[in-house]
Amino acid sequence: MQGSGAMTRAAIDGPVVAITGAGQGIGRALARAFRAQGARVVVSDIDAASCAAAADELQTLGVAADVTHARQCATLVERTVASFGRLDVMICNAGIMQLKPLLELDGADWDRMLGVNVKGSFLTLQAAARQMLAQPPRAEGRPRGKILLMASIAGRSGAGPIASVIPHYRASKAAVISLAQSAAITFAPQITVNAICPGLVETDMWQRMDRDWTALQGVPRGQAWQQRVAAVPMGRAQTPDDVADLAMFLASPAADYMTGQSINIDGGLMMS
Ligand code: NAI
Repeated sequence: MQGSGAMTRAAIDGPVVAITGAGQGIGRALARAFRAQGARVVVSDIDAASCAAAADELQTLGVAADVTHARQCATLVERTVASFGRLDVMICNAGIMQLKPLLELDGADWDRMLGVNVKGSFLTLQAAARQMLAQPPRAEGRPRGKILLMASIAGRSGAGPIASVIPHYRASKAAVISLAQSAAITFAPQITVNAICPGLVETDMWQRMDRDWTALQGVPRGQAWQQRVAAVPMGRAQTPDDVADLAMFLASPAADYMTGQSINIDGGLMMS
């Protein structure tokens, strides 16, 4: 490996961080950020091509996995441990979004949304927790592992003009926040579990949402995005790196006493 002794030591000793939905968007940014800090990162995604591209970029292990399948979540953890010996941080980030008016939603839409966002988070969390409970802490007095769930401010409160066309998304993210609380109680003090609630992040997910809102409402492309950004008190849209900064804090020893929390990182959007 190229680089200084410090970089080499970090690559050998850094915490082992697995991230689902890491082929693109927020997950990919999280993977880059943790890697840049010396973590040993494992990237996972249902999309095998983007998963391989992320693994290639970061020169690390990629495990293609669908989070709605328990066996595939277990394989992600097993391959992580086979490569790096342990699992310090699991980030359950994989998620989907769909815009559809409530009266047009059918059971299949509902099942798919809650299947990926809630069941997928649960299965990944469960597989990670089984490993973490079986391993010693990285250092005396520290938790044996940390789990971060990707929720959303949409799971806590309004979501602006699109709120009425994402009832299943909002319900799914509210469930993720609740899951973080149950898991935190179950696994304390061995494992901390917290949920991250981003606001409005510039990723493909938002691009698709904007396209679908345009089709539903007959408004100009980009209007929904611009209106939401204009409502952000911090005066700009959020980048995936903003989310990564919070994730790195929650994964760090500085947050060892925090568990069961759901934390907004939204530029103040939920207050506005
Ligand atoms: P994205 O659509 O850009 O990326 C999501 C990734 O998850 C994709 O790579 C996709 O292939 C993967 N994925 C989808 N279904 C999967 C499955 N069954 N198994 C494994 N991987 C699967 O979305 P983005 O924006 O990066 O979102 C990441 C997370 O952040 C999601 O949970 C989302 O709900 C949440 N979030 C996003 C916000 C935004 O404004 N973009 C705001 C709040 C929360």
